[in-house]
Amino acid sequence: MKIGILAVCTLVINLAMTSAKSLVGIQSLVKRRLPRHVSVFSFEFSPGPGDSFVVSDSRTRPGGIDITCTTTSACARGLFEYLKERGGLGIWWTGSQFDKLPSHLPPIGDIPIRGNSIVKYRYYSNTVTFSYTTVFWPFEETKDSGSDNWSYLLDWLALHGINLPLAWNGHEYILSEVYRDAGLSDLDILSYFSGPAFLSWNRLGNIQGSWGGSGKLPARWIIDQLVLQKKIVRRMTSLGMTPALSSFTGFVPRSLHKHYPTADIMTESQWDNFPSAFTNVSFLNPVDNLFKTLQKSYLMKQQDVYGADVSHIYTLDQYSENTPLGNTSAYLRNISSNTISSLQAADPKAIWLMQAWMFSSDSAFWTRDRINWYLGGIPNDTMLILDLYSEAYPQWQRTDSYGGKPWVWCELHGFGGNIGLEGNLVTLTTQPLKALNTPGSSMQGIGLTMEGLDQGNEIVYDLLLNQAWSSSPIDLTAYISSFASRRYPTKSLPSTVFLAWKILASSVYNNSDPNSQATVKSIFVLQPALSGLVNRTGHHPTKIFYNTNQTIVPALKLLLQASVENKALRKVPEFAYDVVNLTRQILANYFIDLYTRLVMIYNSTHSTPEDITAAGQPLLEILSAIDEVLMTNEHFLLSKWIHSARVLAGNDSQYADLLEFNARSQITLWGPQGQNNDRAAKDWGGLVHSYYLVRWQAFVHYLEESKRFTTPYNGTVLNQEMFKIAEHWVKATWGARLGERWGTHGDTWEVVDKILQRWI
Ligand SMILES: *[C@@H]1O[C@H](CO)[C@@H](O)[C@H](O)[C@H]1NC(C)=O
Ligand SMILES: *[C@@H]1O[C@H](CO)[C@@H](O)[C@H](O)[C@H]1NC(C)=O
Ligand SMILES: *[C@@H]1O[C@H](CO)[C@@H](O)[C@H](O)[C@H]1NC(C)=O
Ligand SMILES: *[C@@H]1O[C@H](CO)[C@@H](O)[C@H](O)[C@H]1NC(C)=O
Ligand SMILES: *[C@@H]1O[C@H](CO)[C@@H](O)[C@H](O)[C@H]1NC(C)=O
Ligand SMILES: *[C@@H]1O[C@H](CO)[C@@H](O)[C@H](O)[C@H]1NC(C)=O
Ligand SMILES: *[C@@H]1O[C@H](CO)[C@@H](O)[C@H](O)[C@H]1NC(C)=O
Ligand SMILES: *[C@@H]1O[C@H](CO)[C@@H](O)[C@H](O)[C@H]1NC(C)=O
Ligand SMILES: *[C@@H]1O[C@H](CO)[C@@H](O)[C@H](O)[C@H]1NC(C)=O
Ligand SMILES: *[C@@H]1O[C@H](CO)[C@@H](O)[C@H](O)[C@H]1NC(C)=O
Ligand SMILES: *[C@@H]1O[C@H](CO)[C@@H](O)[C@H](O)[C@H]1NC(C)=O
Ligand SMILES: *[C@@H]1O[C@H](CO)[C@@H](O)[C@H](O)[C@H]1NC(C)=O
Repeated sequence: MKIGILAVCTLVINLAMTSAKSLVGIQSLVKRRLPRHVSVFSFEFSPGPGDSFVVSDSRTRPGGIDITCTTTSACARGLFEYLKERGGLGIWWTGSQFDKLPSHLPPIGDIPIRGNSIVKYRYYSNTVTFSYTTVFWPFEETKDSGSDNWSYLLDWLALHGINLPLAWNGHEYILSEVYRDAGLSDLDILSYFSGPAFLSWNRLGNIQGSWGGSGKLPARWIIDQLVLQKKIVRRMTSLGMTPALSSFTGFVPRSLHKHYPTADIMTESQWDNFPSAFTNVSFLNPVDNLFKTLQKSYLMKQQDVYGADVSHIYTLDQYSENTPLGNTSAYLRNISSNTISSLQAADPKAIWLMQAWMFSSDSAFWTRDRINWYLGGIPNDTMLILDLYSEAYPQWQRTDSYGGKPWVWCELHGFGGNIGLEGNLVTLTTQPLKALNTPGSSMQGIGLTMEGLDQGNEIVYDLLLNQAWSSSPIDLTAYISSFASRRYPTKSLPSTVFLAWKILASSVYNNSDPNSQATVKSIFVLQPALSGLVNRTGHHPTKIFYNTNQTIVPALKLLLQASVENKALRKVPEFAYDVVNLTRQILANYFIDLYTRLVMIYNSTHSTPEDITAAGQPLLEILSAIDEVLMTNEHFLLSKWIHSARVLAGNDSQYADLLEFNARSQITLWGPQGQNNDRAAKDWGGLVHSYYLVRWQAFVHYLEESKRFTTPYNGTVLNQEMFKIAEHWVKATWGARLGERWGTHGDTWEVVDKILQRWI
């Protein structure tokens, strides 16, 4: 079972070829996304500070467009600015529209398009996104066009101007080599890692080991991810992005203690009710010299694999949902100062990138003093802090701009990849500027730190990344109409479309409720119970902060009316996607009313079992309607998620089953006994039908029986039943019929029409 560095040595790539100051990568991007216009665009560096670009008509090449820029990233942004402002097209999570560009491009005229980033860093990602969203993504899948893939994501990021993306893949490969050199066996190492879909929390030191399967992370996964990471790092670099690479965090297998009995290894706190075997992760005190040795080993191996000058920015979190074992100034300062010195000893230019999630999530522990002690041990210029949830719980004020350390204003927006309409546009256009312009501010970046990539609320990402290139607040009225017209690029877009987006912008995208600043979760994805589902606030809110019938219902009707006026709209994938998604949201919200009614009837002492049956019926019917509409669109499918997992295993069906188990477990039980049950739930076609519906049927049945036999409601009994359903579902597999069930079902317009008549 030896993983063996030799196996991959031959794949070491020469990154010296693609230095940050090269335009080869952006030219390749044009070849990928605009193959018919390769000769139109010409890129050139111009001297100057920061990131800026100028796009103009070429003086020498008739019909040509010249883009000059101070950095590769600025050239990519300049290209995007031209394509969206003059071409009227976008690149969306749902696909690129650039193939619709006319062969003769619109000229720019006398006034060139100029842009200048207001921040040094445009950051992308969150450690957990690597599990919630991209875990099963290939670099580029050719056989199976339409799969989510890194190649596409990286182009999306480059065009939007991102220059600092997180790059976690491959961490387990480097780390296993470090541990092997330190004397650990393959068994020690592979049984320490968590399952493929749960590695993020292993990386953060929350969990260790894996449930399901053999309890070991397959060596194949580790090697494949390294191969993937090499492609990712190379592509990032070529597109002018600095990958934030991983490092040695201090979290170690328990068995390290056997090999180093005198090492200062501590047992960290328990996470989210996981049994101790899977949490209470061992942590090597950075004060111990062994920490420095392992850090050096890690960074050297990483440099060997990716090249020495790819990046000096290292992501490293020790207290993300781990409570420090000490609370004194000396303790906290020792941890951080020794951590940074370990990085610097191996790479003198090292910068420590930290997700400052704990300062907002555990503000009870992280008082001003403790934050000062912890950060005080680190020189200002060797750190970059992610103010992870700036739109709702910014920490930069109470920390006085992190005591002068550079930091990034981040939009977190959603937890667990939950699905629901939500955003606060005005916050995005004003708050980053306010932070930047505060006297003494050390803010240096703007970033996206969503837990799961959100495809439906794309407007939120687009706007924030636009704001990174504008020193005054973007005018929302103009922005919304330009957003709508480039999202649905058709000749003579009906005015009803703009009206629909105006409604959305002033309702679902104007969420000022301070207690639920995150994508709103549908209650039908939650484990059924008599109480506690509705009106939740916090990170996984279920409280609907807008009036459905006065906002998204008319917005949907206006879009549908537009598609009658202009039939071409129905062929625009983003339009179909939005119609499906609004329909989904409306039905999900109506479900709450039906559920509330059922509970009221059950609670009434006069009701009969037949009343329960009658009140339960529409609940189950609306779930079927939700499933039906989701099944019509490729972006809302459970089968896509499972397929993306299984396909990585090729012909190895046992391995495919393990990956499928991981895929299923993460979006449902999320833990051996459902420790994080439904945290990463999804409104997906196929999942609604095979799982949520089954749970709600069992719930309705339970209430009927309880009425019939006058047995009191017992939540424990019901939960046990729900756990059985979940375990059964999680362990099911597609077996050998790989790929068979990946595809849509039904016609969006017919299904939506039917739903409108029946429900709306
Ligand atoms: C990559 O992802 C994009 C966006 O989802 C998709 O349009 C494209 O077809 C994918 N590419 C491949 C080769 O699958
Ligand atoms: C795990 O951590 C918790 C504190 O979060 C502690 O109470 C418990 O004793 C720890 N368990 C072990 C086995 O160390
Ligand atoms: C600090 O931790 C010690 C134990 O490690 C505990 O007794 C003490 O109450 C803590 N102090 C504060 C202010 O929380
Ligand atoms: C801090 O580290 C020093 C050695 O670098 C050690 O002497 C001291 O005991 C440590 N203090 C704490 C509280 O860990
Ligand atoms: C960091 O910067 C702040 C503000 O400029 C300054 O007061 C502080 O002394 C600096 N800290 C370090 C460790 O250099
Ligand atoms: C649909 O839109 C919601 C917002 O309502 C968003 O959270 C989600 O990512 C979108 N996409 C899918 C596939 O659900
Ligand atoms: C957004 O909500 C605020 C109140 O919270 C209101 O003052 C403002 O007019 C709203 N904006 C839009 C565009 O509706
Ligand atoms: C949820 O909140 C709404 C609006 O405040 C309220 O009308 C409703 O009764 C609440 N429902 C529950 C179950 O608490
Ligand atoms: C119904 O009864 C349960 C259990 O007694 C209670 O928790 C819940 O709030 C009640 N709901 C309504 C809508 O009356
Ligand atoms: C899977 O097996 C089939 C039949 O044995 C073979 O043709 C195919 O190449 C194999 N695919 C992979 C990825 O190994
Ligand atoms: C609910 O059921 C559990 C498990 O059967 C039982 O232990 C408990 O006593 C019951 N609770 C009530 C209030 O009846
Ligand atoms: C919203 O509209 C639906 C369908 O017409 C209706 O059943 C429901 O009562 C309305 N809800 C509110 C709060 O008006």
